[in-house]
Amino acid sequence: MDSILVTGNGPLNGQIPIAGAKNACLTLMPATLLSEEPLTLTNAPRLSDIKTMTALLQSLGAEVSSLQDGQVLAMSSHDLTSHTADYEIVRKMRASNLVLGPLLARFGEAVVSLPGGCAIGARPMDLHVEGLEALGAEIELEDGYLHAKVPGGLKGAVHEMRFASVGATENIVMAATLAKGTTVLKNAAREPEIVDLVECLRKMGAQISGEGTSTIEIQGVDRLHGATHQVVTDRIELGTYMLAPAICGGEVELLGGRMSLVSSFAEKLDAAGVSVTETDKGLKVARKNGRVRSVDVVTEPFPGFPTDLQAQMMALMCTAEGTSVLEERIFENRFMHAPELVRMGANIEVHGGTATVTGVDQLKGAPVMATDLRASVSLILAGLAAEGETTVSRVYHLDRGYEHVVRKLEGVGAKIERIKGQ
Ligand code: UD1
Repeated sequence: MDSILVTGNGPLNGQIPIAGAKNACLTLMPATLLSEEPLTLTNAPRLSDIKTMTALLQSLGAEVSSLQDGQVLAMSSHDLTSHTADYEIVRKMRASNLVLGPLLARFGEAVVSLPGGCAIGARPMDLHVEGLEALGAEIELEDGYLHAKVPGGLKGAVHEMRFASVGATENIVMAATLAKGTTVLKNAAREPEIVDLVECLRKMGAQISGEGTSTIEIQGVDRLHGATHQVVTDRIELGTYMLAPAICGGEVELLGGRMSLVSSFAEKLDAAGVSVTETDKGLKVARKNGRVRSVDVVTEPFPGFPTDLQAQMMALMCTAEGTSVLEERIFENRFMHAPELVRMGANIEVHGGTATVTGVDQLKGAPVMATDLRASVSLILAGLAAEGETTVSRVYHLDRGYEHVVRKLEGVGAKIERIKGQ
């Protein structure tokens, strides 16, 4: 297994291009199942999760071609041959569950294994099931698979989710595009990836309004047609690289970044003493004067502070002046990076969903282990700021969500290399 060797070597300066959003792409790809006509995505990120979704769609009979070095995905679901999402693929990635709504809408039937994904909590699918049942689906759990069918076809309904789940919102919205009548989804998630999905579905002929608010209204149509859509910028990759100059010092421009994607995160950086400004090409982040100040963080659904940036923010707080409290409210088991950061000299105490971090003058390099996708990059950030060498093992987690991480960080002056087969 590969590992990444990072050597702390001071401030970072330059530009980092930000890719298309993994989480948007993973919901846009299953949207191809809704139409017999081709769907083409541009600005796709080059990630192993995208390959997993490609394999899943192909196992259903869809054609997926990766063009222009993986940045364009040309898909066609003209001749689907299966409505079963097999455990062997689904277990690799929770987002596989996003084929459930589209398959049900297209075939009136779907069999989808309960997912795996990052080991950051229980992550059930009850909210997906409740929403699809409200549209008339009958769903049972057998042998680890959800068996869903809707004999008379999906029918629009008013449904309020108990929690604004991102994935459940996406599944319900996709299913409702082909339902008979109008669906009103209340307490819907408001994440930019959902707005991106709706914009794509609209290009395919769907009638949807209210995306980006907590009430989404969908008027079902008989069929959807083909479209071409550009994947929105990855706000989590953006936020992650915004932390690179914050933790190391220097000034880095994040190409393609937009403040509206990361406003609550940028506010925290500002409070910590890191400046974030908009430029013609993206966002510029600079830390010039000494250590950052500690700030408290509570993770919340969008537009609150994203759970997917909590681990990276913790790395920054390990080096801040003072004590900060990070409260994780989305996933119950998302502090697995804390003991690894402690190996690097950090001072962190975890009690339930709260981590108290007291900044230290200097982190020290150490061998550490990536435990999930965002944890892995938080250890790289910590390594960039540490004295000496840090080796991060199990980087397959990183490959799920960050393309060309070594090249991007080297480009701003970091000392980082990938070591094969360790
Ligand atoms: C998506 C993102 C993930 C991000 C998360 C929260 C993708 C591919 N992944 O995951 O990176 O961390 O949003 O911003 O877009 N829950 C239930 N029942 C359900 C569904 C969810 O209890 O049926 C719970 C989960 O266990 C979790 C919380 O709701 O505690 C949030 O989950 P959800 O918003 O659904 O996240 P995902 O769509 O899985």
